[in-house]
Formats: sequence, C-alpha cells, structure tokens
Amino acid sequence: MQQDWWKEAVVYQVYWRSFLDSDGDGYGDLEGVIKKLDYIKYLGIDVIWLNPCYESPDIDNGYDISSYQEIMDKAGTMEVFNRLLEEVHKRDMKLIMDLVVNHTSDQHYWFQESRKSTDNPYRDYYIWKPGRNGREPNNWRSYFTPSTWEYDEKTNEYYFHSFAVEQPDLNWENPAVRREIYQMMRYWLDKGIDGFRMDVINLLAKIPGFPDAEKPEDISYLGNNPGIHDYLQEMHEEVLKDYDIFTVGEIPFVTPEDGLLYVGEDRKELNTLFHFEVLDDMKSWDLLQFKSIQKRWYEGLWKRGWNSQFLNNHDHTRLVTRFGNDKEYRQQSATCFATLIHTLPGIPYVFQGEEIGMTGVRFNSIDEYNDIAMINEYKERVANGEDSNSVFEELVPFSRDNSRTPMQWNDEKNAGFTSGQPWIQVNPNYHEINVKKALDDPDSIFYYYQNLIEMRKRHSVMTYGEYHPILEDHPTIYAYYRVDENEKWFILLNLSEEDTSFSFTENKVFVKQLVIHNYPVKQDSANSIRLRPYEARVYTI
Ligand code: NOJ
Repeated sequence: MQQDWWKEAVVYQVYWRSFLDSDGDGYGDLEGVIKKLDYIKYLGIDVIWLNPCYESPDIDNGYDISSYQEIMDKAGTMEVFNRLLEEVHKRDMKLIMDLVVNHTSDQHYWFQESRKSTDNPYRDYYIWKPGRNGREPNNWRSYFTPSTWEYDEKTNEYYFHSFAVEQPDLNWENPAVRREIYQMMRYWLDKGIDGFRMDVINLLAKIPGFPDAEKPEDISYLGNNPGIHDYLQEMHEEVLKDYDIFTVGEIPFVTPEDGLLYVGEDRKELNTLFHFEVLDDMKSWDLLQFKSIQKRWYEGLWKRGWNSQFLNNHDHTRLVTRFGNDKEYRQQSATCFATLIHTLPGIPYVFQGEEIGMTGVRFNSIDEYNDIAMINEYKERVANGEDSNSVFEELVPFSRDNSRTPMQWNDEKNAGFTSGQPWIQVNPNYHEINVKKALDDPDSIFYYYQNLIEMRKRHSVMTYGEYHPILEDHPTIYAYYRVDENEKWFILLNLSEEDTSFSFTENKVFVKQLVIHNYPVKQDSANSIRLRPYEARVYTI
C-alpha cells in the first residue's frame, strides 16, 4: 500500500468557539487556539481540523458563510489566522480548514444579488424554481426544516436549501460558481493551509428535474446524485492536484461501494471520508452492528481507498455519553473506545475534550439550547401537536450542543474557558473533569490517548497493517489482529459493562507482550482471563 503522510496522521478537531476565549467576549477564538497549540502537540497530534471561522452571521455556527476570504469577528482577524498557521507549522503540525461549498449564508453578496431579480447576473448562482400549484416545487425535506424550498416574494419563486432557510444551496451546475469556488480554494491553499474537511461534499449535485420523493422523510435523495463525481474530479484537476494536501469529505448516506467512488486511489477525487453508518444509523451502541460496519468498510476499501475513524464530533454527542458509560465507567469506557478508534484501520480523529473524557450535557429547557437543528425540530413537532416535554426529552440526548459546551481547562470560573459570559453554558462537571486535573494524573484518559498515539506512530502496522477480526459473533468482546510483514498485534476489548471471559488457548491466540491496558494487570500469563467492564488490552504477538 502506498505510504502517504496523511494516512499516518492523527487529527484533532478544534471547535474554536468552544476552545479558549482570549478576549473575554464569551466565544473561543483563534488567539485562544494559538495559546493551546503546545497542549495539542503534547497529545501527539499531527493535523488540526479547524471548524469554519469565515465571516458569517452565525446562525449555524459558521456553516453559513457570508464571505469566504474573511475571518469572522468572533474568531479574530486575518492577521491572527496567519499567525495561527505559522505557529501550527512551527510545531511541525498541519492545519486543515472546513470547506463549506454546498451552500452559503443568505447574507452572502452572491445571494443578496441573486434574489434581486430573475435576470440578475448572480441569479443562477443558486437554485430557483417557480412554485407548483401555489406551493413548493416538490415535496423534499431539508435537514433542518419541513421543506427544502423557501418562497421569496420579490421574484415570486422558491430557492433551494438543504439546511436552514438562511443557508441557500449553491448551483453547482453553473460553471461560474465552480470557478469562484476553485479560486477561493486556491486562495487558502496558497496561503499554506494543508487541506480541507469538506462539508457535506456529496450534496453538491441534485437529482435532475427535482422529482417528488416517495418517502420525503428519508432525505438520502439529497446526496450522491448524478454529476457529483464530475464536480469532484474537476475540483481535483483544477485545484487539489497541485498541492500535497489532506482532503476528507463529509459524506452521509454512503455505502462502501459508493464510498470508494469518492476516495478510490485511482479516482482523483478525495483522500478519505467520514461516512455515517455509525453516528447516523446506530442510535445506541450495538457491537455486532459496529463489527459488521467495520468489516464491510475494510473489505470495500482495502488496498483501494482510505477510511476515517471517529465516534463523535461537533454534530454528535460525546462518545463516552452516547456509547460508553459517563458515570461509573467513564474512565474505562473512554479509554476502551479510544483503543478501538486508534487501532482500527483508518485515520483516527480526536474531537476536542474527548481526550479528557468530557461528557454530554443536559440543560433545563429548550431556551438554553443553541443548536438550530434541535430548536427547529422542536418547534416543528410542537407546532404539529406533539407534547413539548416528550419532544424535549427525545431530543436532549442527540442535541449537537452535547459536544459544543466549552473546553474544560481547569476548575476555576467557567472552567478557565472565558473570563466573560460563555456563549453556551459550561458543563457543570468541570470541577471533576478538566485538563489541569488530567495533566496532573499519570493515569488519566489524556495520558492514555497520548500513549496510544505514540504507539501508533512507532508501529506502522497500526496504519498500514491488515485487519483480521476473530469472534465475530461475540456480543461483548471485540478482538482483532493487525498484521504486516514485520509485526502482528492483537487487540482485545470488552465493550460492555459485564465481566466477560476470554480464553487465549481456545482462540489460539499466542500473545507475547501486553503493551497497552486500561486496568491494572497483575498476572498476564493465564490461559483464560476475565475482562472487566470496558477493559482494553493491546498485545504484541
Ligand atoms: C455538517 C456540519 O458538520 C454541520 O455542523 C452543519 O450544520 C451542516 N453540515 C451544514 O453545513
């Protein structure tokens, strides 16, 4: 398998608005990120993914961009951005930025022009259609609203939006749009950034003719449509091929077969992808389903394309709360899942705070939430007559705010995040869970991650090795080998709250040395062992 620096990377996601506030306005900022680069480096990180910090009215936390080549005031200035990039590079790390080009903000100049008249030169930068019998042009749902269409009185037509009303979709059929985007991408790459995380990149092409959907609530019709690969190959030809960069596409609704079309090494599109078979399709932990997802993706991509491994991000509740046990087994489940993510084939991602086992949150009422996805869904369902309390209870566990609370640096005011009023409440458990405490404790989750990452760096089998699972039908144990011509490793995880026994002899596993473990281990030579709740062991063979 061809070796590439980006395949060997461990990525840290910085959701800057919740990372560190340097000026007391209650929002994290780029200056704050600079202050903590040594911390990120100390963890062992190679690549930082920075969530969008472009000019934006901020109705979807920066995913509604009003100017692609300016920095949002809350985040800082272009001078600070340039310094951030320089400081990242000085530490021998790389920086990738979010590329949000499926849609812009409705405040973007292009859209402001586009909505003025049907013959405005920018009209076709977006997707406009006349209504059908006085209603929306079709029955499609958007991610955040009941319809993908918003009526605009001025020209008596509807515009298309896959997300909020304030996020109109760009019309990728228009070559002028594509040229503008490629130019903008070159602007950032020429500045020296090291790549892009591409927001919902498989949504760019729409189904020709916009026919009604049979099941409008299954919004997978928004993605993977005819023409998408032409756009990405053109983007590669016009921009990406000229730079040695890291590109990861956010690609919902995708199978391994389709995934390969985006990341196949012969395809000239993207390096790797985030698929959502785990985070979107597996509401709670299901080991058998997880194993089968891993197997299908491994077999689908092996030797042909590259996968990514992650169990949370700014859109998905923190892994220890959603999949582990954030109470009595917080430490054990956090480290067990970390072992999983850092030993499976594919690039591992750490979402800020994951490395100290930060947890999800529960606010008291909908008014305390900020997440537009949650708020819109709440309003829609309550307006349709559902009981507000039950809707609230149903939405709390999945609210994107679970992952967006401020980074917990210490047990001082606001967890050391800001001297001002934080834009979103700090998780009250910051006295217990914070970076200072983690760094003071040699047995902390932080050092466990650091150790895993270091081990990964030293042993390329964790990056390039084959993956061979055993006990595939076991409901609580996940066990697999990683193998290359020089080394063989064995990973043994008890992904449950029950003690589970495992027999080395019966399974013909002949281990040599226990290298990583998240429980104290007294004697290690027994033929059969009892794995404690969320126990993780990594052995050489
Ligand atoms: C995916 C992003 O991760 C999410 O935060 C955002 O709301 C949507 N794309 C729309 O840009």
